Amino acid sequence: MKDNSRERTNSAAKDRLAQDRLIVALDVSSAAQARELAAQLRGICLWVKVGLELYLAAGNAIVEELRAQGFSVFLDLKFHDIPNTVAGAVRSAASMGASLLTIHAAGGPAMLSAAAEAAAASRNAPHLLAVTVLTSMDRAQLAATGIDASPADQVLRLARMATVSGVHGLVCSAEEVRLLRQELGPDPQLVVPGIRPAGAEIGDQKRIATPSVAIRDGASNLVVGRPITRAGDPAQAALAILEEIASAL
Ligand code: C5P
Repeated sequence: MKDNSRERTNSAAKDRLAQDRLIVALDVSSAAQARELAAQLRGICLWVKVGLELYLAAGNAIVEELRAQGFSVFLDLKFHDIPNTVAGAVRSAASMGASLLTIHAAGGPAMLSAAAEAAAASRNAPHLLAVTVLTSMDRAQLAATGIDASPADQVLRLARMATVSGVHGLVCSAEEVRLLRQELGPDPQLVVPGIRPAGAEIGDQKRIATPSVAIRDGASNLVVGRPITRAGDPAQAALAILEEIASAL
């Protein structure tokens, strides 16, 4: 009897850990669509990501609504401006209740430190993730912006600079997560999009991995959009991914 209850406790703890690892990208164009998805995912997922499309369509109100429903919100607006402006943007996003924010590592150490200080001084102290090299950039695109380096070398350079400047983590693809984990150690939060369960439609993503491979390679959190939001049954799709995450932990 005791063993059964311990097993149940362990499995509930594992479920909760898996829930903490999954972030659902609500890439929709209206508050109504976001609301409908949120209603289907409530009680199953803890984290949702609000990106530029939804934020510009539905504003602070949707962030506050999702928070009021119990979700933690990853506000993915990729700030990149002078240090003072980015620090102010971080304060505003924090006061709206966002728990996770993105900024561009290419903004440089002064911008990253100003953002990190602003986040740490905010009441709910959101975590900051630095975007290194956008996955749409290849060597030629980097060269056109004056950077003579491979995308991998540039990712590593920016990742080191960003973590030293006080951000909590990085957004990276499944292809880089293993290397970054090896190079940067256990501390940085590594958030990985481009996740596709075996057999799922790949869409426009290129550097993809299954949930279990990304977790085993060292991902802290997985960002999953269409495999959940465009599934016939989003709740069921999310549960299957959570099970896969739990079994990889
Ligand atoms: O639908 P899908 O699972 O491909 O959605 C992935 C999410 O992660 C999208 O919101 C996308 O903008 C985001 N993302 C990404 N690649 C990056 C950074 C963010 O796919 N390098």
